Amino acid sequence: MNYVQAVEAPERNIGQIKLYDRAEAFAGMRAAGKIAAGCLDMLVAEVRDGVTTGRIDDLARQYVFDHGSLPACVFYRGYRNTVCTSLNHVVCHGIPGDRVLRSGDILNIDVTVIHGGWHGDTSRMYAIGDIPRKARRLMDITYAAMMRGIAAVKPGATLGDLGHAIQSYAESERTSVVREFCGHGLGRVFHDAPNILHFGKPGQGEELKPGMMFTVEPMLNLGSPAVKVLADGWTAVTKDKSLSSQYEHAVGVTENGCEIFTKSPAGLDQPHTLAG
Ligand code: MF3
Ligand code: CO
Ligand code: CO
Repeated sequence: MNYVQAVEAPERNIGQIKLYDRAEAFAGMRAAGKIAAGCLDMLVAEVRDGVTTGRIDDLARQYVFDHGSLPACVFYRGYRNTVCTSLNHVVCHGIPGDRVLRSGDILNIDVTVIHGGWHGDTSRMYAIGDIPRKARRLMDITYAAMMRGIAAVKPGATLGDLGHAIQSYAESERTSVVREFCGHGLGRVFHDAPNILHFGKPGQGEELKPGMMFTVEPMLNLGSPAVKVLADGWTAVTKDKSLSSQYEHAVGVTENGCEIFTKSPAGLDQPHTLAG
């Protein structure tokens, strides 16, 4: 796989890694990321016992529109909602609906906005009421795994270094890394090259270069890493029904590390640590 200057490339996934202009693109991604993160901040007070996942989707859609943005997932490959709501053993792409949140549930909310043509894509875990200790531990490890992956992002490092940072930590804590879903290039295109695997070997894979922009979004399971997709064509669940957890940030590679575009303006980057 090779690299292309984003301004010279068509606005679709052409299998090459786009390198974006640091000033203009990063400013756009910062603005989009802030709205996506602000949406997840707003939902912290709304995620509680008795609320449906459909209600959360409605609130998110309104927030996105109120902030001059569009929900990227609506009409994306036939998806109809603003957010994915992935509960308990749902790994990702859970569809909002009439499911009522109950004490003991853990929930991932994943939102992607388009703002000024740029994508902001981020997800966090939320705890509802009293949750089992093992669920809290899984979410702590997932957040730490994502941040270890992000800490490995700098020019000269490789995608394998990033994946290895996540996998080695996750497995040392006796959790497993889902293989079927990955992070992705992000910018003016939603799901762009390259795939960002959350496992790997040091030194392998593409080299990171300044101007690359992508997501880091590991999914960790308490049991086996195996997943299956339900008949709705979206909902991915653990085959063994063990708990699954995910966090996601969007980042851009700088001269000496990376910038996180989707940090919480309110300091609520880990809502699962708050009382639900
Ligand atoms: N936001 C998800 C991601 O992190 C993608 C959801 S696609 C949808 O890449 F269509 F399911 F919404
Ligand atoms: Co993503
Ligand atoms: Co996402």
